[in-house]
Amino acid sequence: MNLQIVLIPFLFLSVFTSTSLFAQDFKALYQKDCAMCHELTDPNLVIAPPMMAIVSVYKKSYPQKEAFVKHTLQFILSPSRQNSLMGEKTIKQYGLMISQKGAMPEKELEALIAYLYDKY
Ligand code: HEC
Repeated sequence: MNLQIVLIPFLFLSVFTSTSLFAQDFKALYQKDCAMCHELTDPNLVIAPPMMAIVSVYKKSYPQKEAFVKHTLQFILSPSRQNSLMGEKTIKQYGLMISQKGAMPEKELEALIAYLYDKY
């Protein structure tokens, strides 16, 4: 039997399943570590701006994925007024975000931010 014909579907299957698992993982991570503040649907519970709005502001300043990830990561690890792109109005309304340093390994956080860039 031709080995290539046998292998190709397997290769395809493994690439396909691993990439979809990948997206699933980040969705779960996002749900676990960010969504409780950033995706509240109850308008009476206002803890943080929706992630979609934040990503759109960040993309305006940093359209390139690499710069987007770098600057978003910087804020998440050490939130400050100087690092904020959302600005004074958001911080007044919600209070400054608490640092997510240590919530997960930095590499994982970086990948999560790249996922958010792709998602929104
Ligand atoms: C305990 C609640 C809470 C959690 C958990 C949280 N955030 Fe936030 N986040 C906030 C609040 C409040 C703001 C708005 C105030 C501000 O900008 O600092 C914010 C703002 C932000 C901003 C915009 C910062 C700016 O001002 O430019 C980014 C980016 C962000 N969050 C990303 C994340 C990501 C990614 C996660 C998950 C790893 C996360 N946050 C988890 C509360 C949270």
